[in-house]
Amino acid sequence: MSLEQLLAWIPPGSPDETLARQVNFEQLPAHVAIIMDGNGRWAAQRHLPRVEGHRAGIESVRDVVESSARLGIDVLTLYAFSIENWKRPRAEVSMLMTLLKRYLRLELSTLLKHNIRFHVIGRKDELSPDVLNELEIGIRQTEHNSGMLFNIALNYGGRAEIVEAARRAIASGIPADELDERRFGDLLYTAGQPDPDLLIRTSGEMRVSNFLLWQIAYSEIWVTETLWPDFRRRHLLEAVLAYQKRDRRYGGIKPSPVALGAK
Ligand code: IPE
Ligand code: IPE
Ligand code: MG
Repeated sequence: MSLEQLLAWIPPGSPDETLARQVNFEQLPAHVAIIMDGNGRWAAQRHLPRVEGHRAGIESVRDVVESSARLGIDVLTLYAFSIENWKRPRAEVSMLMTLLKRYLRLELSTLLKHNIRFHVIGRKDELSPDVLNELEIGIRQTEHNSGMLFNIALNYGGRAEIVEAARRAIASGIPADELDERRFGDLLYTAGQPDPDLLIRTSGEMRVSNFLLWQIAYSEIWVTETLWPDFRRRHLLEAVLAYQKRDRRYGGIKPSPVALGAK
């Protein structure tokens, strides 16, 4: 997309406009992945039940999906529910699933309007038929869209994904000496997608919580104290600007200006 697309949606003179104008559109992260954390703490600060934090977090999802699409991000991945999250009280899990279904039903028109393709990464096995049905509708209705790819990580675990890929490699009968990183990557849920350039985690926790373990090998990590229900376009722009100041070396060394000039 472009600065114009983004500015069309930002109140003129707002701090968001100042941030948007600083973005280098030639150097956007192709893939942004977000660990949406802190809903429970947001609710606790307000003496509300945890589920109210999840409910409020939906507004952040809406804002970030649209902001990312307008910004011109190719792939956005949101961590919505981990395999480990089944350990939570049944009522909370069930509310999270209900909110997800509601989000998909209400936001499908927005996804279509912005040419967004919806995709799910994670294990389908444990998900209930009504959730699977809603996901299937979202996937089918947006499958021909050519804009941003929007992955929801649901019942997702990074280690489980790697084990599943290893099993598929064995089942496919691929000779061991032909299995390399590229071919293995094609067996993951994210086959064909670029690895995340930028990994964002909200609520200040300095851990990856089993998220995209293979894919984040060289991602730039940006952690904010902001709790997920308070996360908005402004924070996404801040993260992108911080990313654009990073020096990505991939294990190499930064070429010195002298060497660059010498050719
Ligand atoms: C993130 O918020 C939402 C999910 C993990 C589904 P949390 O529910 O983890 O909120 P905190 O971390 O307890 O504050
Ligand atoms: C990570 O958050 C999972 C999601 C955002 C879906 P958690 O709240 O589950 O992570 P931990 O338990 O703090 O590591
Ligand atoms: Mg949490």
